[in-house]
Amino acid sequence: MSRTPAYAAELRDALTRAVRGVGERDLARATEALVSRYRSVAPATAPILASQVHVAAYAAYRMPATHAALSRVLGDLAERGLAPRSLLDLGGGTGAAAWAAAGAFSSLESVTVLDQVEDALALGRDLVRQAPSEVLAGATFARAVAGEWPQQQADLVTVSYVLSELDERAQEALVADAMQRGRSVVVAEPGTPDGYARVLRVRSAMLAAGWTIIGPCPHADECPLVGSDWCHFAARVNRSAEHRRLKGAELSYEDEKFSWVAAARPEVAEPLAVQPHSGRILRHPLKRKGFVEFHVCRPDGTAGREVVSKKAGERYRAARDAEWGDTLP
Ligand SMILES: C[S@@+](CC[C@H](N)C(=O)[O-])C[C@H]1O[C@@H](n2cnc3c(N)ncnc32)[C@H](O)[C@@H]1O
Repeated sequence: MSRTPAYAAELRDALTRAVRGVGERDLARATEALVSRYRSVAPATAPILASQVHVAAYAAYRMPATHAALSRVLGDLAERGLAPRSLLDLGGGTGAAAWAAAGAFSSLESVTVLDQVEDALALGRDLVRQAPSEVLAGATFARAVAGEWPQQQADLVTVSYVLSELDERAQEALVADAMQRGRSVVVAEPGTPDGYARVLRVRSAMLAAGWTIIGPCPHADECPLVGSDWCHFAARVNRSAEHRRLKGAELSYEDEKFSWVAAARPEVAEPLAVQPHSGRILRHPLKRKGFVEFHVCRPDGTAGREVVSKKAGERYRAARDAEWGDTLP
């Protein structure tokens, strides 16, 4: 969790530069409005990013967090061997997933971000102007509304923190559109019980379409986390001075909780399966003297406790470095 995502510092600098002209009072007021809007889980009847100030506030207070979450997700998939050449980001807003993908995949050659809010796209374009990666600097930001996305194909389609703004029918349609355009699809949502419930529905739709789950689950069975538990992870976000001021926060970091699922067409997923999954770490590991205790989701579809003791040698050393969200060493 302490791992800093690629391009986090560059994104922070770009954000500082981009929001410099916006009045601090306006920014704080818009941030407050967005915080309370995102807390209420109800489909939006009008765009939530309703003005340039709302867009600036979103970018300053949310984008570092969604970027950190997506960096963890896409970094995980890159480690498993996913190597997309093209990215299509639906409801991409100011481009958090694009920044994360450029940081995670050296294979990437083209990036397209689509969103309904022109002001968000304009800020996204502004942010990548001095981007540290050529593919990011050359990204296309274009206006499109869910249901009317252009017929563009991509190796990877991302849908990041969008579903909660849509009703259930529109969520299903968006995921179907993503799968129709992508060879692999990643959906990320806030790491809350309702975000997880949306992710579970997406997972079922992916499996029903014959796609292969490539993360975070190490199996395609029913999710073993039922009752009061839900599958979510955390990404550490370092807060800039502005970020702290905007949120009225004192800590120099925050942990962004997120839930996610990724699947691919069988021909894309097959080579990834060469490396069998050892299990997914579902909580902060307990690092004790001489052993590390994990709560994991296992490849056989169960979840429970696993212990790696000092006797395991190399594996124990890897276990000491392992974090919540990683695969079990
Ligand atoms: C919470 S923001 C997430 C932005 C970005 N994906 C991220 O992870 O930071 C939700 C985005 O979805 C977009 N969105 C919501 N409903 C949409 C629709 N019907 N058509 C196109 N974009 C939509 C919003 O404009 C907004 O930019």
